[in-house]
Amino acid sequence: MRVLLLGNGGREHALGWKLAQSNKLDLLVSAPGNPGLIELGPVLQNLDLSNTTAVATAAETYRADLVIVGPEAPLAAGVADEVSNRGIAVCGPVAAAAQLEASKSYAKQIMTQAGVATAAARTFLDPDAAEAHLAKAEGPFVVKADGLAAGKGVLVTDNRETAIRWARFCLEGRIGEAGKKIVVEGYLEGPELSVIALCDGTRAIPFPVARDYKRVSDGDQGPNTGGMGCYSPVDIPNKLVDNVMEEIIKPVLSTLAQEGIPYRGFLYAGIVLTDQGPQVLEFNCRLGDPETQVVLPRLDEDLLDILGAAATGCLPDKPLRITDKAVVNVVLAASGYPDKARTGDAITGIDKALADQHVLVFQAGTAESLNENGLITAGGRVLNVVGTGPDLATARATAYRAADKIDFYGKHYRSDIADAPLTPSP
Ligand code: GLY
Repeated sequence: MRVLLLGNGGREHALGWKLAQSNKLDLLVSAPGNPGLIELGPVLQNLDLSNTTAVATAAETYRADLVIVGPEAPLAAGVADEVSNRGIAVCGPVAAAAQLEASKSYAKQIMTQAGVATAAARTFLDPDAAEAHLAKAEGPFVVKADGLAAGKGVLVTDNRETAIRWARFCLEGRIGEAGKKIVVEGYLEGPELSVIALCDGTRAIPFPVARDYKRVSDGDQGPNTGGMGCYSPVDIPNKLVDNVMEEIIKPVLSTLAQEGIPYRGFLYAGIVLTDQGPQVLEFNCRLGDPETQVVLPRLDEDLLDILGAAATGCLPDKPLRITDKAVVNVVLAASGYPDKARTGDAITGIDKALADQHVLVFQAGTAESLNENGLITAGGRVLNVVGTGPDLATARATAYRAADKIDFYGKHYRSDIADAPLTPSP
């Protein structure tokens, strides 16, 4: 099979790594890709993923049998619609279904229709109305830009004035179109999990559950990021995943189907384990990043087979084979991240880290140096350093040993990934 893989982050490098293990893979083309993906096949560095016609034409040119879409923006722009209109299978939802991530108010509406547990929310277009609401609401305050804001559209704060300022900032267009509508919702208290299901339009099967660390600094301090690390497995009862599938994922899929919107591809539910049971914090219409980098190493399946099956509406009616292996991912970030990240610094030591056979390094914000051999930093989250092992403590120690061998100016990372895994509920 010939595959076109869209995206350029650690998630896509991990997808490419796992796809390359399939003996059915004839060609992997990535766009725009990264230096890690260059080692796996041709890379179309200049393909604009928001140009749905250009993407579908590239899929035709390379005679792709399957297009796999990593990030949310091309899905919201309608890449899956256009590729599938050309008769090519695509793993990723159509634009109407991608609204689950691209519009927080739409996601709330679908959850209400589907009877899914989530925080009560109100939508605002007018800054004065949002301020009047926040003036009376109980904290902590959760204010979200309605649209896609590259992980920068959510504020959670105990401070009412800060919440009001952020609401106004968004509604005045200061973060762009995404913030001209906002959702103000209740705060969900409890540990957060990433439950990702692969869907084929009617069926859905869960991938291994992961736990992500979103704040930049140890102890969940500092601003939100795209994710500074994660681990899998998470010690939760199997019944909990069954509940999420039965009470959240499947009702949402059937509600969408009733609206004439079949969902094919990954549906990611950010779940908070509240005292009242699991509730949805957010939906994403794709695999998580950095969750993918710990989930795929645990999968004992041919990824190409199962993604092809999801894209063509024929997922098997049985659970995925998952290994007992533990996997921990430590994200190495560039100086300045999550604000403006410094770029262009030489990266050394990846080969030393990879000398340990229990280590994987997935590239994200990297580029090949134009002046000399080697890699330089080219984004905020630079590398995902992944340790594997028989248990989380071993995988964690392996990941951190490897992280210490890699160097670039201003490298920073959290030192508490997987240091206090969830304890099972009684
Ligand atoms: N790690 C969170 C996300 O992918 O959105």
